[in-house]
Amino acid sequence: MSAPDRAQGGSHVHSLLRVQGLTRRFGGLTAVADVELAVEAGQIFGLIGPNGAGKTTCFNLITGLLPPSAGAVEFGGRSIVGLAPHRVTALGMARTFQNIRLFGAMTARENVLVGAHARLRAGVFGGIFRTPAVRREEAAARERAVRLLDLVGLGDAADLPAAGLPYGRQRRLEIARALATEPRLLCLDEPAAGMNESESRELMDLIRRIREQGMTVLLIEHDMHVVMNLCDRVAVLNFGQKIAEGSPAEIQANPAVIEAYLGRDDSAAD
Ligand SMILES: Nc1ncnc2c1ncn2[C@@H]1O[C@H](COP(=O)(O)OP(=O)(O)OP(=O)(O)O)[C@@H](O)[C@H]1O
Ligand SMILES: [Mg+2]
Repeated sequence: MSAPDRAQGGSHVHSLLRVQGLTRRFGGLTAVADVELAVEAGQIFGLIGPNGAGKTTCFNLITGLLPPSAGAVEFGGRSIVGLAPHRVTALGMARTFQNIRLFGAMTARENVLVGAHARLRAGVFGGIFRTPAVRREEAAARERAVRLLDLVGLGDAADLPAAGLPYGRQRRLEIARALATEPRLLCLDEPAAGMNESESRELMDLIRRIREQGMTVLLIEHDMHVVMNLCDRVAVLNFGQKIAEGSPAEIQANPAVIEAYLGRDDSAAD
């Protein structure tokens, strides 16, 4: 809690996630250029922009999948730059992937248990000798997996192989797996991609319920109906740079955003 923190760029000490000067170069291409973000606990924060704007790269930098070329990432007040993704997960950040990454041959429940594994305390010793404590922990994890599948509307799919689920359900299974790590911050990379209208409406309900349970959500999404109806705050990237940030209404009215992304007669939120 220091005064200089408060003085910088509108972000403040209590931001759950704070990104400053975030930059990533790929050879001659600067995919993310000096980006600043402050996500407050309890927010649904949208990250939008045209294809190739650097949104997924931002997620990769924030979640530790890629090292930044420059910049700071603080989560819960501590620097997480240089931590491996599983360490970042253990601190309470989970994500889904734009290109779904499920274990196709495993059941929905088993996929969720893979996420839960990040929280199990039993080490190799416990795993081999299956002490009563380990068995209790596993039983609790299985129960929780079922509850999470129910939460995302996949209660009937627990024993089905992930690969056989329709696309929209696979996306929700990824969310359940991410939730199994018990995150404080859930990062969703285009969760509504490929969903029809009723699926994306269900998704919005789900994301609201997730927030009601006390989680913070960072959301990359192209579906403007979803973004504008769900987000408390939206940041816009274009060619790696943040060109705007504000409420959904401010973003929709911002000339630079309309020019770069939304277009003049966009079909965004109503
Ligand atoms: N590993 C990589 N190596 C080289 N270039 C990359 C790599 N990852 C991303 N890029 C490039 O960085 C830029 C930003 O890509 P990124 O995937 O972050 O965009 P995005 O905003 O998520 O786009 P989309 O909406 O299409 O998912 C693109 O030009 C992309 O080709
Ligand atoms: Mg992307």
